[in-house]
Amino acid sequence: MKTYLVTGGAGFIGSNFIHYMFEKHAGSVRIINVDLLTYAGNLENLSDLKDNPDYTFIKADICDTEAISDIFAKNDVDIVVHFAAESHVDRSIRDPGIFARTNVIGTLNMLNCARCAWADGEGFKEGKKFLHVSTDEVYGSLTDEGTYFYETTPYDPHSPYSASKASSDFMVKAYVDTYHFPALITNCSNNYGPYQFPEKLIPLIINNVLSGKKLPVYGDGKNVRDWLYVMDHAKAIDMVIEKGRFGEKYNIGGHNEKQNIEIVKIIIDTIKEMLPADDPRQDHINYDLITYVEDRKGHDRRYAIAPDKIRAEIGWEPETMFPEGIRKTIRWYFDNTEWMEHVTSGDYQKYYEEMYK
Ligand code: NAD
Ligand code: DAU
Repeated sequence: MKTYLVTGGAGFIGSNFIHYMFEKHAGSVRIINVDLLTYAGNLENLSDLKDNPDYTFIKADICDTEAISDIFAKNDVDIVVHFAAESHVDRSIRDPGIFARTNVIGTLNMLNCARCAWADGEGFKEGKKFLHVSTDEVYGSLTDEGTYFYETTPYDPHSPYSASKASSDFMVKAYVDTYHFPALITNCSNNYGPYQFPEKLIPLIINNVLSGKKLPVYGDGKNVRDWLYVMDHAKAIDMVIEKGRFGEKYNIGGHNEKQNIEIVKIIIDTIKEMLPADDPRQDHINYDLITYVEDRKGHDRRYAIAPDKIRAEIGWEPETMFPEGIRKTIRWYFDNTEWMEHVTSGDYQKYYEEMYK
């Protein structure tokens, strides 16, 4: 039985990862989910695990040294999977400070608490691992088609978000280089799937299409992102923990590059096709909803991951192709309108914290 400490497990990718782990390794993993429940954290994402004896939720701030050391002191943690972060680029442009605090100081605190708890003489106890979940945005922006981000691509972050993630990656690297701390880093491309907060492009567009609102497209709509279904990311993390080499970084992506405007049109077409022909919403669902708005400041033009290393060394490949993944995602939002109401109403946290009292 291995004990995982997952940070940010009440967010989008963290909650999908926890579901993945209990589906794949039921009975052989214990998971402690540490989350501050910011606007992006939602215990409703994990309400099905409430009575699972191998699952524990602890509300704590990753910057809080006392709280995090206490968790390590009371639990023999084998593996840390560090998702917790401020994750939205637009918010980082408006308020960079919280990104430096959570993403840089928070990561440093997690590293330090793990280092102290796992210390064994000059080295570390057997079997301990720290997986830092990072992003392809640290590499900056690609312009020429046919060029890709490799693990060796120099860091060139542009937004306060990507700068804070780059800093956190360097902090992890410093722990590896200085203390031989047993850490690994993954840098993944854009995720989509269930439980994604509707400030991000795909859930925002699905929600707006269904409610007949305008669909804001930044700039000329030709910025390119490389989309990966979230459960494929969860599987990649699990495999990197299992087979990855300490001190290494692994890019995760699925060669699924699309312009934003293509994504918006695919969502409109797919929703129209999935709704019954006599659904009253059919009347307002068309390309006229698309509205070009002012561009994001410092907007990166193109991201594209070369997943060669993870394929060759770890044997991971994406399994969910975009036409299937986007249908599953839209279906999930069709079936979870209450979830959408809660996360957009602002009072869901209080409501769902009641469940864990
Ligand atoms: P998210 O915003 O949905 O979730 C973040 C979670 O962290 C929330 O549950 C939030 O409550 C928690 N959190 C925030 N501050 C905290 C703090 N101080 N202490 C404890 N918990 C805190 O983010 P996400 O999209 O699930 O991303 C998770 C991780 O994956 C992030 O590190 C992000 O940089 C990285 N990533 C995201 C994507 C993507 O497409 N979403 C792609 C690659 C990498
Ligand atoms: O690449 C990985 C990153 O992907 C993660 O590290 C981030 O945490 C995650 O938020 C995501 O960042 P992006 O900025 O790429 O995602 P977002 O969904 O915010 O935007 C995707 C693209 O769509 C981007 O080019 C901006 C554009 N966009 C976004 C919104 C919210 C629009 O055109 N209109 C919108 O309303």
